[in-house]
Parts: sequence; C-alpha cells; structure tokens
Amino acid sequence: MKKLLKKQISKNLLVKNFRRMWPFIKPFWVRAVIGVLLTIPVGALDGVVAMFLKPFMDKVMVDKQPHFSAIIPFLIVGFTIVQGILIYSSNYVNTWVAQKITQTVKRRLYKKLLSMDTSYFDKNNSGTILFRFASDADTAANGLIDNTKQFLSKSFSSIALVGVLLYNSWQLALIAIAVLGLFIYPMTIVRKKMKEILNKTVTSSSLLMTIYNETFAGNKTIRSFTLEETLTRKFHEATDYLFYLSMKMVKSTNWLSPLMHIIMSIGVALVIGAGSYLIVSGKITSGNFVAFIAALMMLYTPLKSVGNNYISIQNSFLAIDRIFELLDMEPVIQDAPTAKELREVKKAVTFEHVHFEYVPGREVLHDINLNIPVGTTAALVGNSGGGKTTISALLPRLYDVTKGAVKIDGSDIKDISQASLRRQIAMVFQDNFLFSGTIRENILLGNEQADETSIWTALKNACLDEFVKGLPNGLDTEIGERGILLSGGQKQRLAIARAFIKNAPIVILDEATSALDNKSERVVQEALDNLMKNRTVIVIAHRLSTVQNADKIVVINDGRIAEEGKHEELLKQNGAYAALYTMQFKDKK
Ligand SMILES: Nc1ncnc2c1ncn2[C@@H]1O[C@H](COP(=O)(O)OP(=O)(O)O)[C@@H](O)[C@H]1O
Ligand SMILES: [Mg+2]
Repeated sequence: MKKLLKKQISKNLLVKNFRRMWPFIKPFWVRAVIGVLLTIPVGALDGVVAMFLKPFMDKVMVDKQPHFSAIIPFLIVGFTIVQGILIYSSNYVNTWVAQKITQTVKRRLYKKLLSMDTSYFDKNNSGTILFRFASDADTAANGLIDNTKQFLSKSFSSIALVGVLLYNSWQLALIAIAVLGLFIYPMTIVRKKMKEILNKTVTSSSLLMTIYNETFAGNKTIRSFTLEETLTRKFHEATDYLFYLSMKMVKSTNWLSPLMHIIMSIGVALVIGAGSYLIVSGKITSGNFVAFIAALMMLYTPLKSVGNNYISIQNSFLAIDRIFELLDMEPVIQDAPTAKELREVKKAVTFEHVHFEYVPGREVLHDINLNIPVGTTAALVGNSGGGKTTISALLPRLYDVTKGAVKIDGSDIKDISQASLRRQIAMVFQDNFLFSGTIRENILLGNEQADETSIWTALKNACLDEFVKGLPNGLDTEIGERGILLSGGQKQRLAIARAFIKNAPIVILDEATSALDNKSERVVQEALDNLMKNRTVIVIAHRLSTVQNADKIVVINDGRIAEEGKHEELLKQNGAYAALYTMQFKDKK
C-alpha cells in the first residue's frame, strides 16, 4: 500500500520539496527524526489491536479457554495507554520542529523582503506581499511536517494492518489489496484539479488582503469620497469569486472520499463472500476471519486520511513552490563585489548622460547632465510628471540608471556600497513615513547612537523644540501609526529632525512643503533652510519662491533639462522658467 501511495505523490515532487526544505530542517533534524520515529509505533499499534481478535475468537469464543479472556482486556487497555503516550510525545516534538521551521522560513523571507528593490514594491500590492510572506510560510512548514507525520503514522498503521490481513489469510488479503488499488487513479485526477484551483485561490485571497489594507490606509479618502459602496462591491466580487473557487474545489475533489467509501464497501463485500467459503472449507479459522474483517475495517481510517493528507501535502508543496519563488528572487540593485565605502563627499555629485526607464521601452529621463558641486544647492523645478522625483531617486540608488552614470567625486555610485552611499544622504519628502512609537524613537531612526543633547539640537533646528517641550510626555509622546496624532506641519518637522540627526552631507528634499498651508509652510521652510546649510542639496520645489536663492535652478520638462541657471539669469532668458514664474505669480494674485 505504501509503495502504491508513494508512487502517487510522485517521487520527484516529494524528494524535490524535501531537498529544497532541507536547509530549514537541517538545524533541527535530530528532533525531526525523533518526531517521525515516534509516529511509527503510534500507527503500528493499530495492527496489534486487530491482531488480538484472532486468539480471542479462537481461544475464547471457540475453545472456551477462560484465562485468555482475563488477559486480553488488560492488554488492550495497556496498549492503548502506550499508544496515547506516544501520540502525545510525537505531537509535542513534531509541533516544536514545525514551528521552528516556520520561524526560520519567515525570518528568511522577511530578510528577502527587506532586500528587495523599490521597483519590486512598485509592482506588487501589499496583499500579495502579506499573503505570500506571512501565510505561505505557515502552510509550507506546518503543512509539511504535520502531514508527513500523519502520513507516516497512517502509512505504518496501514502497513501493520495489511500485515494482519496477510497473516490471517493471504487469499483474502490479495482480494482486498486489489480492490484498494483502485484508489490510485482518482487520486491522480484530484491532484491535478487541486493545483489549478489552489493557485487561483491564492491570487484572489491576496486581492482580499489588499482591499483590507487599502480600507485601513485609505480610510479618510474612502469617507470623503463616500467610496463605501464601491469598495463593498469590490469586496463582494472578490468574496464571490473565492466562494466559487471553494465550491469548485469541493465539486472537483470531494467525490474522492465517498468514492473511496464505495470502493471499500465493495472490498468488504467481496471479502465476506470469499471468506465464508474459506471458513466453510476449513482453510481459515473463524478467528482469522474476524481479525481480518476488523483489520480491513480499521484500514479504512488510515487509508482515508492518507488520502486527505495527500491533498494537504499537495497544498504545502504549492506553498513551498511559492516560497522558493520569493527566496530565489534576487534584487536587481546589488553591491558590486568590489564595492567601496563612501566616507565623505569632497567635490561634487554629477549626473552624466543619464537615461532612465521604469518600464522597458518607455524612457522617462533623457540625457540628463547635472553637476552639483559640494556645498551647493540645485533646485529642480518644472511641470508635474517631468521626472524630478525620478532624478532624485537615482542618487540613493532606489533605482539604477538605464544608461549613463551618477557619480560622486568622479566614482560611479554603482561602485560604492549601497549602505555607505545611503548613509551620506538624508531625504525629506512631501509625505514622510513615520513609524508608530514615540517622538524620540522616530528621531533616533536617523541615528541610533544620538544622545539627548543632539536630539534637542535636531528638534531646535527643525523648529519643533517648543512644541515637544509643551507636551506632557515630551520626547516620549506616542505619535500613533504613521504619526496620525500630529499635524501635517509637525509631521514634516519631525521628519526634518530625523534627517538632521542623520547629519548626512547630501540632502534631498522632494516637495517637502507642498502639502502644507502657508503658515506651517513658513516654519517648515525655516527648518529646511537650516537643514540645507553647508550641505550638498537637491531640492525639488513646487513653489518657485522657495528656491529663488538656489545656486542653480534646473528646469525639467518631459524628462529633459530645458534650462539651467540662477534665478535672475533664467528670468532674463524669458524661457521655460520665466513662463513658470509668471504663471505662479499670476496665481498668487
Ligand atoms: N514607480 C513608477 N513606475 C512607473 N512609472 C513611474 C513611476 N514613478 C513615476 N513614473 C513616471 O515617471 C514620470 C516622471 O515622474 P516623476 O519623476 O514622479 O515626476 P515629477 O516628480 O517631476 O512630478 C511620470 O511619467 C510618471 O508617470
Ligand atoms: Mg515628484
């Protein structure tokens, strides 16, 4: 039976998946083996119980030997107690191993997630990430261990029971085994169907996760646009599809169990017919026959659960496939083996003939040349969608240039280690991500070693010290998830304080004041001016008034540099900058 079943879970698949999971199992292999070994007697003891029926029948019922009837009940209870202890220990050990493996897989996956490129996060939605990184690990490791345990225990139970069958009557055993062999074909069909449906289920479950996530993050937008109905519709569609898939799964796989039942009953019927003949002709005793029938009936439970396990093992194999798809992914942006550490910026940041495309074939930056001497400020202005943010994202290597090079002091940033490059750059955006926790914790993200004095200096430079002093809990005030308890201007200044304490020589400001009202903009602008002092700065500004004093203003239109120079020069040229300027000036009036 075991052999037949093993053929079923095609050998390759089993071996392949165990081999892939081996690095995760290896540290715990001793316990894993103990756990597996413990399941063997648990299964095999099933056979012992059936075995007892033969002497009971022959010696007690037929020969009327009383001393035998006294022992048997004790033996049965004794064996069951032993079996119970074994079940408990094997569950304990196997859960331990499964949880340890899950933990290791999750840690590896999380490390991978953190190493992925910005473009990976652009392309995948949060639901997919949640689903694949969080729940697949459970399905894979728990499913694998749990089902292997069950599978082995039930297989050994089946083997022991088949042993009992053979011992009592090989003729009847052959009939039974032949009938049970009929299970194999339907199992193959079920496997194929399952794989198909499970893949679809995973995709649409991820969609559901994304909706939950967006409902959470986009709560205010949903309220203000009264999107409740739209989202409800979307959610209903997704759940309808999941319902359809579940039903399809039941329809196309659940006939397996009743079918096995029917086949089993055919087996029992045949055995009873043939068995009566064998008893009458004196080839077997009635004890043989009773033990045989009991074993055959008992065989049904392990066989059925082997069938179910078989389905769940498929499920965890599929999860393993998906996990390894993630683990095998390599971030596109990686440190060169010869990458150097960037310790300071002495001369300049330069963009040389830089071209860039997010999507192959659709270039968004064309031949950008830019020289920003150390300690100066370059302001990028221009129409929205022109490529300003993209230019600034190339410097910390959130994306890599498609052609050309970004250089610091003459060396290509691709030859510098990413960590050391990013340590030299502080960024402030229009919408900064603050982590839940206290003000202190958020500032320390800029520099974990900073002491109290530098925190207060940073706060002062970010024009936030008065505000924090006025709070009852001061630095230890909780700011809520994403800093929800702070106003826009306060959030912005906290982000600036975080950038301050990082004390990086290069600063990138991307429309850092655009989301603010005039009053908070003035305070934040003051904080930004402090941050820009004596640093090499790329500042992207929506309002031209804030960048008039920049050492160099660069007008970016449709991915190209249209103009470049100082405020007065550009105004005199009466070109793109002058046009932008007049337009904003008019708006003001
Ligand atoms: N993650 C992205 N994936 C694909 N295209 C993008 C992505 N981010 C921006 N773009 C496209 O690149 C172009 C430049 O965008 P961006 O640099 O944000 O402009 P700006 O900051 O000047 O408003 C736009 O056409 C935009 O649609
Ligand atoms: Mg932008």
